[in-house]
This record gives sequence, structure tokens and C-alpha cells, in this order.
Amino acid sequence: MIQKISQLFTERFSEQPLIVRSPGRVNIIGEHTDYNDGFVLPAAIDKAVYVAVAKRDDDTINLFAANFNEAFETTVPGIQPSQLWHTYILGIVDQLIKQGHNIGGFNLVIDGDVPAGAGLSSSAAVECAVAFALNEVFKLNLNKMQMVKMAQQAEHTYAGVQCGIMDMFASMFGKKDHAIKLDCRSLDYEYIPLQLEGYKLVLFNSNVKHSLASSEYNVRRQQCEAGIALIQPHHPRVKSLRDVSLQMLNEYVQPKDELVYRRCKFIVEEIERLTTACDDLKQGHLHSLGNKMFATHEGLSKDYAVSCKELDFLAAAVKNNPAVLGARMMGGGFGGCTINIVKEEAIDQLTETLYNNYKTAMGMELAAYIVQTSAGTGIEKV
Ligand code: GLA
Repeated sequence: MIQKISQLFTERFSEQPLIVRSPGRVNIIGEHTDYNDGFVLPAAIDKAVYVAVAKRDDDTINLFAANFNEAFETTVPGIQPSQLWHTYILGIVDQLIKQGHNIGGFNLVIDGDVPAGAGLSSSAAVECAVAFALNEVFKLNLNKMQMVKMAQQAEHTYAGVQCGIMDMFASMFGKKDHAIKLDCRSLDYEYIPLQLEGYKLVLFNSNVKHSLASSEYNVRRQQCEAGIALIQPHHPRVKSLRDVSLQMLNEYVQPKDELVYRRCKFIVEEIERLTTACDDLKQGHLHSLGNKMFATHEGLSKDYAVSCKELDFLAAAVKNNPAVLGARMMGGGFGGCTINIVKEEAIDQLTETLYNNYKTAMGMELAAYIVQTSAGTGIEKV
């Protein structure tokens, strides 16, 4: 991948680029908790976005996407949001300009193997790769946390998704063989060794890409805020669902709005579940962690309503399989992958059976990825 992107770049631009790699991510548990000031437990994976970049002497931005075999040209003052692949790159340029950095033109080639729309945060990986690379070539002296926040803002303004901080954080701060417990309120984090002893993380990609994903995502954020608004008059110190108990929800939200109640209940339970799941992981209680993942799926499907029939099928299909410790839908929802903890020697057989059953039941092709964890965003040597 590194040789390929380096060669593509030199062929097009006749110079040596800086190459930056930024990984996709999985999330073990803690879904939709990031924008509620809760905790998440993601890990960076061995599927990544690569950018090759060099600065120019003018203000032209010259982009080439290897996956689409497509070029795009604009200027620094001429950037605009769009629905196309380059919006994630230009969104970072927009953030840099807004923060007063002196950015000139640049040449950039992008490539990667994070499947798009699979819930593995390919867009966050692009944003982090670009932020990191531009920070290097323009010598901006930004630290990783500043770049993470910038990438999140780029997603809000140029992609129109009011996402939390998890995806960018995981891509930037990933560490091989570790998951990261991130407190999304204080941004304190702790690396937890991901010791799965004879088990592996397997993703089953439903290959469903629901157009609902971004619009419903924003609606869920509003529903969480609606819950807070019902509680705040009684508990002025409550700032987010992180501060809320089930008792408060039962008292102030359930009588007023059943739908908002169910959404908020999931979040409050999920924040609690994550805390005990981290203890499970530290103590090697993988069965207990797995059970919590199944419970998360149940909540995401029934109460938070961000699943779909294909993801429900995939989670249910492994539920009583003794080789699968836990499984659930992952990420924003409405499509993408389930994350599964599967006994190593059972992976091939399970994948084959599931592939056939999924095709019969849903008329869709399943894809399976066995994932390893990896380091976060950084420079690659050719
Ligand atoms: C998407 C968002 C994240 C997070 C997850 C759900 O991946 O980008 O910020 O909210 O959904 O946990």
C-alpha cells in the first residue's frame, strides 16, 4: 500500500511525498455514548487510509483518489462542502483556515482499505490522516488532541453528521494490542490490553448502507437532549445523560415522552454496562464481556432503534453458538458490521455457515474480516 501510493504520487507530481497512515476503528462496547459525555472502548485496526502529500508554492489543491481513480482540483479560497469523497479532505482545510492557520496549496493522493459505509470510520480515518499530514508539511505544531477535535468539526460542517469524538480519537490514538477506554467528558483515556486468549475479533459486514444513517443519527442526538431538558428543571446540575440515573428517567421523562424515555434509558444503561465491561476485560472475564455485548445489541435494536433487520439477523444467528462469546451491531447503525468475539478454530466454519444463511434469509452477500488492532495515525517510511 505504501509503495503503491508513493509511486502513484511521484508519477503524477514528480516529487517525493510525505506518507501518513490513519487506521479505521472498532468499538468493543459503549455505543452512542460519546456525544452523551459517557465512555467508549474503541481500538484502531489493521485497515487504514493512506495519504501522500507535498505542499505547493501556489494555492491550488490537487487531489487524486486511487480507489475511485478520480482527480479533483480546487484552490484554498475556493473550497466548499459536497457529497463527494473530497469533502472529508476539504473539511480539514476549512478547519485550519477557520483557526487562522496559514495554509497554501498542496498535492495529495489518497488510498486505503477501510471499507466505506461499513461502520469502521473510514471518514474519520481520512480526516485524521489529512490533518496529521497538513500539520507536518505546513509545520503547524498542532497536537494529536487538537487534530482530533478539528477532524470532528470537519465531520459536522463538511459531512453534516453531528458525530461524537470516538472515531477520530480512536484513529489518532490507537495502540497495537490495546483498546482505549475514553472518558468523552474529560477526554482522559486509559489503554487496556486486549487479551482475547484463543479468540479473535471478527466483523461481519451486512453490506447494508442505509441512507438513514446520518439523518437518524442527528435525530438521536436531539432525543437525548430532549431527555435532559425534561430533567434539568428538577436537577439543575445535570448537563448530559452521563449525570442521569434510571430513577430520574422514570420520574421525569417516562410520564412525558415514552420514545425519548427509551432512547435515554439505553444510553444510561450503556454507560453503566461499559464500566463493568472494562473490568471484565481487565480480569479476563470474556464470557461476561460477551454477554454485555449481546445486551448492547438488544438495547440498540429495541430501545435506541438504530439497528436493521440484517444486523438483527447477524446478531441472533450467533447468539447461542458456544464459539461466539459476544456479538452486536457496531457504530452509528442502520447497516455496516457486527463485531463478534469468536473462538479462533471456529471462525472458518462460522463464516461459511453464516454466509450461506445470510444469503438465503436476506438475499445479500456477507463479508467477513478478522481484525487485528494497530497503532494510531502516524508517518510511514517508504
Ligand atoms: C458514529 C459516530 C460516533 C459514535 C458512533 C456510535 O460512529 O461517528 O461518534 O457516536 O456512531 O457510538
